[in-house]
Amino acid sequence: MSHLGDEKIPNNVHLAEDRKLQRALEQWQPNFLRWWMEMGPEGFQRRDVYLRTAVGVDADGWAHFDYVKMPDYRWGIFLSDPVADRRIGFGDSMGQPVWQDVPGEHRTTLRRLIVTQGDTEPASVEQQRRLGHSCPSLYDLRNLFQVNVEEGRHLWAMVYLLHRFFGRDGREEAEDLLRRRSGDQDRPRILGAFNEPVEDWLSFYMFTMFTDRDGKYQLLALAESGFDPLSRTTRFMLTEEAHHMFVGETGIQRVVQRTAELMEQSPDGDARAAGGVDLPTIQKYLNLWYSLSLDLFGSEISTNAAAFFGAGLKGRAKEEKFGDHVALQGTYPMEIFEGGAFRREAVALRSAMNEVLRDGYVEDCQRGVDRWNKVLADAGIDFRLALPSRRFHRHQGIFGGHHFDPEGRPLSGEEWERGKDAWLPSAADRAHVKNLQSRAVYEPGEMANWIAPPPRGIDARPLDFVYVRTEAG
Ligand SMILES: [Fe+2]
Ligand SMILES: [Fe+2]
Repeated sequence: MSHLGDEKIPNNVHLAEDRKLQRALEQWQPNFLRWWMEMGPEGFQRRDVYLRTAVGVDADGWAHFDYVKMPDYRWGIFLSDPVADRRIGFGDSMGQPVWQDVPGEHRTTLRRLIVTQGDTEPASVEQQRRLGHSCPSLYDLRNLFQVNVEEGRHLWAMVYLLHRFFGRDGREEAEDLLRRRSGDQDRPRILGAFNEPVEDWLSFYMFTMFTDRDGKYQLLALAESGFDPLSRTTRFMLTEEAHHMFVGETGIQRVVQRTAELMEQSPDGDARAAGGVDLPTIQKYLNLWYSLSLDLFGSEISTNAAAFFGAGLKGRAKEEKFGDHVALQGTYPMEIFEGGAFRREAVALRSAMNEVLRDGYVEDCQRGVDRWNKVLADAGIDFRLALPSRRFHRHQGIFGGHHFDPEGRPLSGEEWERGKDAWLPSAADRAHVKNLQSRAVYEPGEMANWIAPPPRGIDARPLDFVYVRTEAG
């Protein structure tokens, strides 16, 4: 187990014993820092932030909280401990020992999987970089920065794999991960949702609730990989990812709670007029980020997904809970939309792996929505938030290129145009939310009007703890 030491790059992968790799990563490090200063959180790089730093993968290594200036954060390379005699748990090579190196025949595919995952990490930091100027509290500001530095560490995790196992191609990919930019016309990030702007805190909470949760499911599937270093690094990333989803789910919950309070206090129950986010607007933001995140799972029927599974590269989330790990016999009852009509088709199970992963994701999202609705029910409010149909607002797969309303009813192009402002944030909604959330709250313990305080602070600190020293010290 490695601990916080003097190494330039904290790690538990014996980096010092591989001088060539160490040198290559030490050359990448200043480029990473340049990217961080250019594209990381805007305006707070010289401030002390009360951050949790991973200094090892055991429980002790985790519990390290202290004030850190973000550029001094100890971005490290941490793999979960190896599992003794680990075997490939699915696909054609089921039961064989896992690979400690990249099998030649899977090299290109694995590199693509790692680059695609790696690209999302800096992308989200870029998307969120201006939010510090409009934070609802120091508690939230600190959580934003915690998420940001950890996404930076996730980039390190993927870059380690690229450098260690993919030679020159890997090093070039690692440079490209610092060159693409979220939302850029000419060199955008690889996946759609990671090019969408995140310019207000409602979007940030939705992003961490729904888009980071896609990340959780992708990581769970990669944690099953027969390529053991990928499995071990993603297993550790999952422990960090849990906090990101906590930020999202509880963030929305606090918005919903505050909205309920404002509805009760205002004579006509109008939360918007009372300076809150009204429930229909919350629903629209939910519709947007949930549907964008569904797209990240890829096509419902996918030969790529089948190949990943067959090769033992990417499994299902928690593969062990499934009965048949070879999945050559089974079928998946898929809903197909063709010629304006729906039908069911039994699709070969391996070709349906994206949809199987999406099923787990949808269930997981629903649990969060249920908790939000409990807040509304407890406040005596009839309105309920809901996940839209999986067909709604899709750009990929069976439903991409068609129009559906949130209940999943097919629409003509004109019907969609007429209805879309009622289902997705309109320009006016975006302007309203952005304006409502434009003023930053930097006083310790204070909270913006549109959000309720959290029930407790971070690391057992009080709510009025100075989570970020916003004054230059
Ligand atoms: Fe991440
Ligand atoms: Fe994340």
